[in-house]
Amino acid sequence: DEGVVRRDRFSGGPARSFLSSLAADERIFEADLEVDRAHTVMLAEQGIVEDDVAGQILTALDAIEVDGHGSLPDGEDVHEAIETAVIERIGAEGGKMHTARSRNDEVAACIRYRLREDVLEAVETTLALRESLVTVAEAHAETIMPGYTHLQPAQPTTVAHWALAYEGAVGRDTERLLEAYGRINESPLGGAAFAGTTFDIDRERAAELLGFDGVVENSMDASSSRDFLLEVTQALSTHATTLSGLAEDVVIFANRSFVDLSDDYSSTSSIMPQKKNPDTLELVRAVAGDAAGGVQGLTTTLKGLPRAYNRDLQRATTHAWETVDAVTEASEVAAGAVATADWNEATLAAEAGEGFSTATGVADLLAANGLPFRTAHEMVAHAAEQGGDYDALEAAAREVLGEPLESLVDPDAVEEALDPAASVASRDSQGGPAPEAVTDQLELARESQSDD
Ligand code: ARG
Repeated sequence: DEGVVRRDRFSGGPARSFLSSLAADERIFEADLEVDRAHTVMLAEQGIVEDDVAGQILTALDAIEVDGHGSLPDGEDVHEAIETAVIERIGAEGGKMHTARSRNDEVAACIRYRLREDVLEAVETTLALRESLVTVAEAHAETIMPGYTHLQPAQPTTVAHWALAYEGAVGRDTERLLEAYGRINESPLGGAAFAGTTFDIDRERAAELLGFDGVVENSMDASSSRDFLLEVTQALSTHATTLSGLAEDVVIFANRSFVDLSDDYSSTSSIMPQKKNPDTLELVRAVAGDAAGGVQGLTTTLKGLPRAYNRDLQRATTHAWETVDAVTEASEVAAGAVATADWNEATLAAEAGEGFSTATGVADLLAANGLPFRTAHEMVAHAAEQGGDYDALEAAAREVLGEPLESLVDPDAVEEALDPAASVASRDSQGGPAPEAVTDQLELARESQSDD
């Protein structure tokens, strides 16, 4: 890390601003101060730096914190600028702070330190979204609605069953973020430039002071690997993809007047006075593009980088910051939009049977009465072409099977199978939409939320 020590030769030039990460480093200003403190305390405890010098350095760091990132002297990055500020305050002795380390292990420690906080915030928003979804599910276990495959009416379901489908997916998103957190939460400090140090440092102690779970053992790995960035960005991108599906569903439901978004999560038109548009959810949907772009940017930057440190890594970091900010905000907005939306129960009930969506239940009923399912499927398909009501089924039985419908099945049971609410209630298999099956899913969702 020659940049810091040879400022006489490498202090400027036309590429200065291109080299500098100082502005983007505002994000790790606090983290760098913490890393400096922990490193200084460890150096003093190990007898590498005199206690009084360490004390002066710590006092200077406190003052620098009060002044803020904006008051830092010029520097190639926040690490160099803070060191310069320490030296400006206490003289050349301040330079002892950089004993037994490099900006390479320092920046890796700062990124991990700050990212922990950001990932926990992202995790919190996934929990808030799951809470919103569970609350919707609790209120709408009996609110029937159309269910779709290929965006065509498929089988009636309930709002609760829909909400818990997303709760399950977001729950896995939470887990992926927490797993990434575990691998972020290891200290690279003490790796130095990549090749360790002659000083008798205590890496475990520095890690402990910074609240890391342990150290990244190999010093080259510690200073130069960024797979933790890639992992968390991918986990965020996966969550953004889940969010985009949820957002798209709600946009479609709003189009059908199944759901009314609260005004807080809607926008209007500058020309069409009657408009209420689901803009927030459209933006949530779009954030999946930002996040996928973050993964792409990061992967492409990291691909083929040789060990150990290369300056490319400076531009890798920003992809992760941008992704975590965008996805956390999208998740928060989705949670709010879901929590405040009104479901139009009457419209949903009126549409739940659209497109003969109870057909599968009728075929199931015929199969339960002994008809091979494939034959039942054929007969009901025939009825679907004739309008999909009782009379159509009656005609189809005679045409396809040459028998009256009553000889196959109790007419009352057919009427019931044709009723969307009864159709939902009858699908009580594990994980199904029947209110009693949903009660079990709600319980599991509650349990997994308290585990996470
Ligand atoms: N600002 C750099 C980064 O973000 C750290 C500095 C390492 N500089 C160097 N010349 N080795 O990665």
